[in-house]
Amino acid sequence: MAKISVFGIGYVGVVSAACLAKDGHEVIAVDLDPHKVEVLNAGRSPIVENGLDELIREGVESGRLRATTSAAEAIANTEASFVCVGTPSDADGSVGLKYVTSVCENIGAAIAQKGGFHSVIMRSTIVPGTMERVCIPTLMAASGMKAGRDFGVGYFPEFLRESTAIEDYYDPGLIVFGALDDHTRDLLSELNRHLPCEMHMVDLSTAEMVKYTSNSWRAVKITFANEIGNIAKANGLDGQLVMRMLCSDTKVAMSPAFLRPGFAFGGSCLPKDVRALTCVAADSDVPSPLLSAVLEANAGQISRAEEMVRKSGASKIGFVGVSFKSGTDDLRESPLADLAARLIRSGQEVRIYDPFVSTAFSNDPEAAGRGNDVVPDLGARMLPEIRELIADSEIVVVGNAYEEAMPALIEAIGHRPMIDLTRVEAQARSNGSYQGICW
Ligand SMILES: NC(=O)c1ccc[n+]([C@@H]2O[C@H](COP(=O)([O-])OP(=O)(O)OC[C@H]3O[C@@H](n4cnc5c(N)ncnc54)[C@H](O)[C@@H]3O)[C@@H](O)[C@H]2O)c1
Repeated sequence: MAKISVFGIGYVGVVSAACLAKDGHEVIAVDLDPHKVEVLNAGRSPIVENGLDELIREGVESGRLRATTSAAEAIANTEASFVCVGTPSDADGSVGLKYVTSVCENIGAAIAQKGGFHSVIMRSTIVPGTMERVCIPTLMAASGMKAGRDFGVGYFPEFLRESTAIEDYYDPGLIVFGALDDHTRDLLSELNRHLPCEMHMVDLSTAEMVKYTSNSWRAVKITFANEIGNIAKANGLDGQLVMRMLCSDTKVAMSPAFLRPGFAFGGSCLPKDVRALTCVAADSDVPSPLLSAVLEANAGQISRAEEMVRKSGASKIGFVGVSFKSGTDDLRESPLADLAARLIRSGQEVRIYDPFVSTAFSNDPEAAGRGNDVVPDLGARMLPEIRELIADSEIVVVGNAYEEAMPALIEAIGHRPMIDLTRVEAQARSNGSYQGICW
């Protein structure tokens, strides 16, 4: 069993402290607020949360849970600290780090006095890069010690929801953490081993980003449901019934397939139908800022890809895919066709490998290029061989993933400049002449 100090007896810290004590660990909770310390030491919860009073009473009675205002005492008597101080917004909306900075100063000074190895594990919600740019330098300056060598560092975001916090602790939806050193990584693995959830070990900044992604995603979902509900009501419909139907479709509507960062959406349905629904909203005098922003953001993703190609300075460009997705020759509102057309208009030479559009041209040249009203001379631009396209281009833009083209494209990474809008290889990351749009 471990000895853990928990800094910050707020909504997060007190639940962590009580649950760690219930799991059998020895826990010292630390807060600047003497009242919270007093309340906890009296076996009571400083916040209202289902089941927490009982856990705290049991923890304090068992001797495994106590509280103090002294950082030095807590650090001296534990092997690791969870840091759960608040990160309220600064006036400009950015993350407020005053409590994080000052707790890192307190902890840094205390680990310098302690002498032995101590792991500092941040649990507060902090924007990507904060561990590297703020927490670690502050801890090192205050301790005079080297992070990852003389003391351990981890980032372990908390996902609990107030009101079901204890239930969430024992049955979490996600466990993700990063650590600078093996000792801290092993400790976090050990502390979470009994929980019924896969553990994801990533780097510190990825763990920080996952927390913001999770909260933003929830916020977007709520706002989307509300916007749909408002439009539904204005048209005499039950918004909750509509959303229940949507959520019952786990195959398409709720599929993770549409949560994979990459290129813009297009095709014959999504753009026209989002446009039409924003018109329904406008006709009903219902604001639909989220749906309008969707169209704007989608157009922005095409411009982002265009900028990446322009920045490369290449004038002979090979497109892998021109239809709106692989598996079809449909070019209606294809963002790849739009991108190709923009480059052609500004004088770039564009060649295209797209087995489905090529098949359409060989089957029925009259009908081929269905829905294309933007790319001039489409038939003449088609190349049937991926290797020929790669060899003939100064840069390759991979828009659609075609299984048979993958080996040649993967081989070309690092040899032929490439802008990847779909990700030809799961591990590929932007590096030199290979640039992924979102990775
Ligand atoms: N509340 C939630 O549901 C929730 C869920 C997940 C993550 N988070 C994140 O967890 C963090 C903590 O949130 P919270 O709601 O528990 O905050 P909170 O404001 O309720 O608690 C923070 C506590 O930290 C104490 N504190 C501040 N500086 C200190 C120091 N130097 N030493 C010791 N204690 C100190 C404060 O006195 C306070 O009691 C935030 O970053 C928040 O975004 C919150």
